[in-house]
Amino acid sequence: MHKIPDDVIAAVLSRTNIVEVVSKYVHLTKQGKYLKGLCPFHSEKTPSFTVTPEKQIFYCYGCGKGGEAFKFIMEIEGISFPEAVKLLAEDSGIPVTWERAEYIQDEHAEERRQLLSAHELAAKWFHYILMNTEQGKHALEYLRSRGFSDKLIEAFQIGYAPQMWDALTQFFEKRAYPLPLMENGGLLTYQDERDQYYDRFRDRIIFPLHDDRGQIVAFAGRSLQPDVQPKYLNTPETLLFHKSRLLYHLHQAKSEIRKSNQVVLFEGYVDVIKAWDAGVLNGVASMGTSLTEEHVKLIRRHASRVVICYDGDDAGVNAAYKSLTLLEKAGLVVNVAILPDRMDPDEYITRYGGDKFRLEMIQGAISAVRFKLDYLKRGYKLSTEDGRLGYIRATMRIISALPSPVEREYYLKDLANEYQVSIDSLKQEMFHVIEKTQKKKQDGDNIGKPWNNGMNDRREEATRPALRPAYYNAERNLLAAMLQDASITQFVQERLGDAFNIDAHAALAAFIYRYYTEHDALELSTFLVMLQDEELERLTTAISMLEVAKVMNERALEDHIIQIKKAPMLLAIEHKKEQMHRAERSGDVQRAVQIASEIITLEKKLKETQQ
Ligand code: CTP
Ligand code: MN
Repeated sequence: MHKIPDDVIAAVLSRTNIVEVVSKYVHLTKQGKYLKGLCPFHSEKTPSFTVTPEKQIFYCYGCGKGGEAFKFIMEIEGISFPEAVKLLAEDSGIPVTWERAEYIQDEHAEERRQLLSAHELAAKWFHYILMNTEQGKHALEYLRSRGFSDKLIEAFQIGYAPQMWDALTQFFEKRAYPLPLMENGGLLTYQDERDQYYDRFRDRIIFPLHDDRGQIVAFAGRSLQPDVQPKYLNTPETLLFHKSRLLYHLHQAKSEIRKSNQVVLFEGYVDVIKAWDAGVLNGVASMGTSLTEEHVKLIRRHASRVVICYDGDDAGVNAAYKSLTLLEKAGLVVNVAILPDRMDPDEYITRYGGDKFRLEMIQGAISAVRFKLDYLKRGYKLSTEDGRLGYIRATMRIISALPSPVEREYYLKDLANEYQVSIDSLKQEMFHVIEKTQKKKQDGDNIGKPWNNGMNDRREEATRPALRPAYYNAERNLLAAMLQDASITQFVQERLGDAFNIDAHAALAAFIYRYYTEHDALELSTFLVMLQDEELERLTTAISMLEVAKVMNERALEDHIIQIKKAPMLLAIEHKKEQMHRAERSGDVQRAVQIASEIITLEKKLKETQQ
């Protein structure tokens, strides 16, 4: 289907290390033979996603997704096979030489390139004007008055857009950047009546917004006059910029986020910058918009813990609650920094200093449960008895949902102290709530199962192998051994051929037979690429993860093969027995005797197979 030469694919694969590829998206920790992390393809709280360097594959025991490096890139970036090859080829410095570049279907590639270059250039220009010109002087003074050192301004490439109608417009015109495209990219505006282009940002402090690869894709312009609305004027949605997918400063915070396995989430640009200055290097912001599922996915790729650090006012606390819910749903562990006196992080740092901010706010951030319990209070009038009782009852839903008994006990004790009730009565109340919710969840949910969310068939497969017939495991074990060894494959091919009982297994066996006619050894990632079939790729990956003995001796192989050959006979015998009983019950003695003799024949054959 794809026309990329096989040798190019092989070269890219051989120069690609899947651990490095996946690490750009998933926080991995070493665990024996493989690395483990939270699956980027389904929501989970305990890691079931693995990368096996030795085999150069990834596999999730939770959702069953698996494959080689190309597959991973295709899935996570939502791109086609040729696009994934191209991406990894570029990463490993292999020239993408195959003909017909039209496989890479980016009709906007040229526009994108020009816009990126325009943003890069504009950012430099804004920055120059801020630092070196008379026009930028009052902006620089304003920034200094707010505690922005030159180091900070430099690090965040802050700039100033002058109070002129067409300064940037002329700048682009001189350099032959197409103005309509610049308007489309959100850098200029266009006025119909006069058929004129104008600068979008005028008399504003400019914060460049980078995508996670570090390219400038948009700007935010803060007005310098308190009465000019909006306070922040941002680039609209463009070819390059999607607000709901961009986290401010992620490109620079990424490495620290990985190292600490933690993201600090702010509301505003200034907060990120001031916190960075205070030594919080893993801070990002969702830029005033509420956090989206896409933001959460982005965060999950890099870390599993989040500290929410929003403004201390009502709006900030409400937003924190919403974000918390979204983040927890994705399986992230969340803490919340509660800023006193309705302050925002910038004000707090300015007033109390960076050290206190880091220690008391970020490191001292409260647990998600504590935050939820406090947040819940807002809905009750705690000065009245009814209000207090209502609150206590409502807390039970939060506390009963905690997975650990120690944690539950801890918060119950706390409540008991605060409201002068006995811990026993609280426990009773809580078990009541647990009972009620469990009844509701009885079917469909997966209480007590190792995977914590939405079971599907494939997961059943992974968790309940014991319920499968013996031949099922025998077939998988054989296939696993075949993936590792050419002579085993030859043996199986001669003795069993295509007589696998499960169609997909038979299909996979056929591919393996064929592969060994052309190769001496099977390299899993190359084999997977050759399959070009989603289901077979998954199956192969899953099977390759089975722990089978490196060397299966002939006896063991024979045992497996017998199991597999026996299966259809056993099934036929079972079937005949049923028919026989039915005949007996309906009084058809002659037919029953006939079937009985057929059963005897089958059983004889079965015995022969076993010898
Ligand atoms: N925001 C925005 N557009 C606005 C107002 C706010 O995009 N009209 C976003 C910005 O990302 C801003 C964040 O919301 O950083 C928080 O808003 P706010 O608290 O009002 O601004 P601060 O970041 O505190 O900025 P400053 O300290 O300069 O007032
Ligand atoms: Mn502020």
